[in-house]
Amino acid sequence: MEPNGTAVVTGASRGIGRAVAIELAARGFDTIATMRDPAAGAGLEGVRVEKLDVTDPSTISLPDGLRVLVNNAGVESDNEPLEHMPRESWERLFATNVFGLVEVTRRAVPLMRAAGGGVICNVTSSSTLAPVPFLGTYRASKAAVTAIGESLAAEVAQFGIRVIEIMPGPIETDMLTASDRPPVAAEHSEYRELANRLWEGRQGIRDQYTPANEAARRIVDAICDDDGPLRYGCDDLSEGMLAGWNATDNARWVGGMLKSMS
Ligand SMILES: NC(=O)c1ccc[n+]([C@@H]2O[C@H](COP(=O)([O-])OP(=O)(O)OC[C@H]3O[C@@H](n4cnc5c(N)ncnc54)[C@H](OP(=O)(O)O)[C@@H]3O)[C@@H](O)[C@H]2O)c1
Repeated sequence: MEPNGTAVVTGASRGIGRAVAIELAARGFDTIATMRDPAAGAGLEGVRVEKLDVTDPSTISLPDGLRVLVNNAGVESDNEPLEHMPRESWERLFATNVFGLVEVTRRAVPLMRAAGGGVICNVTSSSTLAPVPFLGTYRASKAAVTAIGESLAAEVAQFGIRVIEIMPGPIETDMLTASDRPPVAAEHSEYRELANRLWEGRQGIRDQYTPANEAARRIVDAICDDDGPLRYGCDDLSEGMLAGWNATDNARWVGGMLKSMS
């Protein structure tokens, strides 16, 4: 796709979304950086800042001529074992990561169709490729988006709309910082040893933390990659994981990881 026309990014107040909005504008897209609190857009140059809370349909207004939608807004929770994860956490994550994304996307489809096509870019997570303990709620919300994206891709290809999925690894944002501590699961004696081992493993990927602007560069490359695949990483770790996943029988890939954790 040529870098022109209107692009909308959700959750562009900070982190990956903000960096993607800046990168889209730099490439030539007329970019709308949307966020819950537009005051957070102060300092963003070359983009329009608009309010959009994906969980509040009354704030969702997309422009005519929409060519690119980046569904980036996302939340996570404390990483608890499934037996301790409160129902409210499931509901909060799904409200934003799944139902919010669906609400924005269903309004984008007719606008993109009218504009002659475009790209819907869903930001999920490379964690869905690994059976990471205590991450079931977050991973489930992202895996739901994987399934939604696949079906949507099949529905809207006929309109010239490409649906892609970005599966980030560890990108240096507030979300990564918040998760960069021993898992809350360690507070439960039955899970302490596993949580501690997980934390030790985390130390081994620190050198692969990737700046948000580098991830954004790869994300916008993927958006412009007309004949590209459905799924992309946006950092060395996620690109490696995706290559491993693609090259291996999936059951063996997950099975091998489960073995290394037990
Ligand atoms: N960083 C990573 O390592 C990583 C890895 C895998 C996947 N991801 C995914 O990448 C995406 C961006 O994450 P990030 O690391 O940039 O996280 P972040 O720094 O925590 O930023 C999250 C963004 O989402 C916005 N948001 C949250 N709830 C929203 C809502 N209801 N409506 C609109 N915006 C909302 C936040 O807005 P406020 O400022 O208003 O809170 C913020 O702009 C997420 O989908 C995340 O799951 C990140």
